[in-house]
Amino acid sequence: MKIKVGLIGAGGFGNIHLQAYAKNPNCEIVAISSRTKIHAENAAQRFSVDKIYFGDDGWKSMIKTEDLNAVSVSTPNYLHAPMVLEALHNGLHVLCEKPICITRNELEELEQTINKTDLIFVTSFQKRFNPVISVLKSIIDAEILGKLINVKYNFSHFGPYTSWKALSEERWFFDSRMAGGGVLLDLGVHGIDLLRYLIGEYKEINGVNSNTSCIDMKDEDNCNVLFKFQNDTLGMISVSWCNYPSEIIELYGKKGNLRIDFRSKRPISFQPSSLKKKKLIKKALSIKIHSNNYQDKVINHFIDAIINNEQKHPNFLDGKRAVEFVLEAYNILRNRE
Ligand SMILES: NC(=O)c1ccc[n+]([C@@H]2O[C@H](COP(=O)([O-])OP(=O)(O)OC[C@H]3O[C@@H](n4cnc5c(N)ncnc54)[C@H](OP(=O)(O)O)[C@@H]3O)[C@@H](O)[C@H]2O)c1
Repeated sequence: MKIKVGLIGAGGFGNIHLQAYAKNPNCEIVAISSRTKIHAENAAQRFSVDKIYFGDDGWKSMIKTEDLNAVSVSTPNYLHAPMVLEALHNGLHVLCEKPICITRNELEELEQTINKTDLIFVTSFQKRFNPVISVLKSIIDAEILGKLINVKYNFSHFGPYTSWKALSEERWFFDSRMAGGGVLLDLGVHGIDLLRYLIGEYKEINGVNSNTSCIDMKDEDNCNVLFKFQNDTLGMISVSWCNYPSEIIELYGKKGNLRIDFRSKRPISFQPSSLKKKKLIKKALSIKIHSNNYQDKVINHFIDAIINNEQKHPNFLDGKRAVEFVLEAYNILRNRE
């Protein structure tokens, strides 16, 4: 039996979801809903999908009318929670884009609803699926760098309408009401998710600074967060919609350090050079690393989870902890004003 999927939000990333579903032999895209008719039509034509829904509430009709097993939610952030709740109430499995919601109340309502169902919920943290990330985790777990003291994640590009092709003419990413925040909510959630996967749960945020230096918007377009993991490792996340594009993870431990620069031709560097003899380091060096999108892998993972009825990471808790991290950082900034 093929899993019947409906997409909500035929924008820039919604089309990437569709590409991935179209390649997966175990599912079928049954319907597409988007706010603007032509966007739903274009996507439907591109992926040979018969049914489209449009308008602000078309997605509700899609959920009610179509015989679906699952939905993929890829809309402006403020719509994630209401759409996910409606889907869950209608017995559908959900893949939700990050951030999974924008307020603490929404987190609570989502959690209560999810805890009452056996439905699969996947947070679309596609960066976890870069093959080098699991090798990096093995390197950390095997303590090849010794006890880690500091870890850093930097992710920058020129924003959703320059470096990334967001499609909706609402330009919602720069509107607090629809986006729920700035670059930290957009890119920082990836950072904290990757570092939680690699290092473990975070404990506390110790400092935040931010500014708005290049985009005409109220929220931040640059942000740094200093924090601590439960195992005492110190963390730093730096995100920007103004800086030249980069994505870098740095790990500093008692026996060595390692840096992955995802956009570099020679992405991995480390010290001391004797580490190159270690099997896991050789394995990491053998992987062709890029800053690509791994959405195919998240979607295959989602479809497999539904078929095998097996909830794995990145799950609701992963989505929740990332949003909590950002909301806590925003709280610190707000209290300082
Ligand atoms: N995981 C990742 O790495 C990653 C990367 C990029 C984006 N994202 C996330 O994906 C989500 C979408 O971002 P995007 O870049 O694709 O933005 P986008 O291109 O602006 O797409 C948003 C889409 O939502 C649709 N929409 C708005 N209101 C709607 C409604 N009431 N019913 C149905 N559809 C509605 C818009 O419809 P119309 O265009 O038809 O008006 C638009 O197509 C965001 O949450 C973003 O954070 C994740």
